[in-house]
Amino acid sequence: MLSALYRFARPALFSLSPEDAHEATLRALELGLHPRQLGTANPILRQTVFGLDFPNPIGVAAGYDKDARVPDALLAMGCGFAEIGTVTPRPQPGNPKPRIFRLVNDRALINRLGFNNGGHDAALARLNARQDRAGIVGVNIGANKDSSDRTGDYVMGIEAFNSVASYFTVNISSPNTPGLRDLQAPAALEELLSRIMEARKRCASKGEPRRPIIVKIAPDIATEDIPAICERLLAHAVDGIAVSNTTLSRDGLKDSQAKETGGLSGRPLFRRSTIMLARIYEATEGKIPLIGIGGIDDGETALEKIEAGASLLQLYTGLVYAGPGLIGEIKAHVADTIHRRGYANIATLRGSKARQWAEMPL
Ligand code: FNR
Repeated sequence: MLSALYRFARPALFSLSPEDAHEATLRALELGLHPRQLGTANPILRQTVFGLDFPNPIGVAAGYDKDARVPDALLAMGCGFAEIGTVTPRPQPGNPKPRIFRLVNDRALINRLGFNNGGHDAALARLNARQDRAGIVGVNIGANKDSSDRTGDYVMGIEAFNSVASYFTVNISSPNTPGLRDLQAPAALEELLSRIMEARKRCASKGEPRRPIIVKIAPDIATEDIPAICERLLAHAVDGIAVSNTTLSRDGLKDSQAKETGGLSGRPLFRRSTIMLARIYEATEGKIPLIGIGGIDDGETALEKIEAGASLLQLYTGLVYAGPGLIGEIKAHVADTIHRRGYANIATLRGSKARQWAEMPL
């Protein structure tokens, strides 16, 4: 039903530039012009992950609601959680437009936004204003492009949002801030994680809650670097790993826009990001919850992510092409599969195909 409605809305949205279409959907959500989840949530999709009670595993990925304008609308649409950001300490305009490109023939997007956002204060004011509302709202933190201490920017993110964030995602994997991905190198990661964990401790010592810390990584990490990176993440006891951000790879694209610079998301990212997810699952021996992201655009791809090792899922580009009905479609498919196989919950599905995925060539 919803998917049918979106078939009418999509041509109007696609007649606008991708960034204007995005702004139009944000405004619609701000005005409450969005579908709402009807009926009660299916309890089979419920799970406790990093100590939080998720009503279902589907969330909208970071970058959709960079400035915390619509987290409650995303939750009302049936998402099990929302993630705002990436936010940086100071507001910044990002790269010159145009900076988002639709690769319709590949069901993909390329973006080089460069962390355009209104800064910590603006997002914090919005999150403070909704503080009494229910629902899991994560805060995705990053660094300003011109920062002289990028690690310090992440520390500021923890300290600024600790009172309102259900969890943090530390984004060190955007390809659009030059040098940011270097923070994934084991030595840089060591310093970053030490300082972030100290910041969390400082917040807890002031009586604030201890928030889960998730690290979001790129799908382009070299296979030989995976063990050292996972070893650092485990050593610092991060609560989860989000796999993955966009890719710089342009393998197998048909669309003429493929030459644009930036991070590629959507269907062509599915294989690479799922292989990386499974390799991280294997390297961490399933000990830490993983958020599977990249190219989810129907129930089957969502299921594959869980079987490759994800406990939770996020999507962005799939929503652009399929519309908000996708959220309900995925939940129904995952719940049906759990029922049909006679399982009790998502945990039983998790990682059942991790070995197969991990061994596939990139
Ligand atoms: C993103 N993504 C992203 N990720 C992040 O951690 N911080 C951000 O600010 C953004 N911004 C952003 C903008 C746009 C326009 C897109 C398409 C993507 C990456 C996103 O969260 C996700 O990791 C990838 O898009 C892969 O998922 P999909 O789109 O294939 O479902």
